[in-house]
Amino acid sequence: MRDGLARELTAVPADDLAMAYRRLNASYQQTLRYAEDVRRLYQQVQRSVYQSLLGLANALEAKDAYTRGHSERVGAWSGQAALALGLAREEAELIGQAGLLHDLGKIGVPEAVLRKRGPLEEDEWTQMRRHPVVGAQIVAPFEFFAAGAITIRHHHERLDGSGYPDGLAGAAIPLGARVVAVADVYDALTSARPYRAALTHAAAVEHLHAEAGRTLDGAVVVAFVETMRGLREEVPRVGARAALSGAAAAPAR
Ligand SMILES: [Fe+2]
Repeated sequence: MRDGLARELTAVPADDLAMAYRRLNASYQQTLRYAEDVRRLYQQVQRSVYQSLLGLANALEAKDAYTRGHSERVGAWSGQAALALGLAREEAELIGQAGLLHDLGKIGVPEAVLRKRGPLEEDEWTQMRRHPVVGAQIVAPFEFFAAGAITIRHHHERLDGSGYPDGLAGAAIPLGARVVAVADVYDALTSARPYRAALTHAAAVEHLHAEAGRTLDGAVVVAFVETMRGLREEVPRVGARAALSGAAAAPAR
C-alpha cells in the first residue's frame, strides 16, 4: 500500500507539485486579505455607529448652553485618567467613548427640566435620574459597545452606595463608571451654572480629595488629579470659590 502511494507521488511531475503549492499559497494569501478587509469593514461600521451616537450627544448639548462641551471634556479626561490608572489603551479608549456618551440618556429628559435654573423638584429629579438607564438602553443594541453601555448606566453610582440607578457600592461599581464619575464631577464643579459660579481648579481638586473614599474612588481621584496636572494649561475656566456649598455638594446631574 505504502509502496503504491510512493509510486503515485513520484509519478507526479515536480513542476505540477510546485504549481499546486503556488496555487495553495496564493489562495491562502487571498483568504488573509479577505479577513483583513472584513476586520477593516467591521471597524468602519463601529466608527459610523459611534459617530451617529456622538451626533445625538451633540444635538443634546445644543439644547443647553451650560452643558456645551461637557461630554467632550468628560470623554477626553476619562480616557486619560484610565490610562494613568494603568489600563490597556483599548480599555481606556472605550472608557473615553463612554465618557463622551455618558449623558446621552438626557435626550429623554424634558427641556424644561434640563434647562431649569435652580434646584429641581422631587418629580423633576425622578425624571433626571432616569438618564443613565435611558442612555444605556440607547447604546444597548451595539454589541461591541457592551462595556460602554455598562459604564453609562452606572456613571452616577457613588462609592458609598448612595448613587443611582442601582445603589451599587465600592468595587461593585464598574471601574469605567468610577472613572467617568470623577471626570463628570470635576467638570460640573469647574463649569459655571445659572445658579452658581465655576470653582477654580484648586477648589475643585480639594472637593475631589474630600470625596475620595466616600462618594468617589480614591485611586481614580489620584490618577485623575495627576492627569489634570499635565493638562492644567488647557483648563481655561476660573471662577469664584464662593459657590462650594449646597449646589456644589450635588454637582453632576
Ligand atoms: Fe449624568
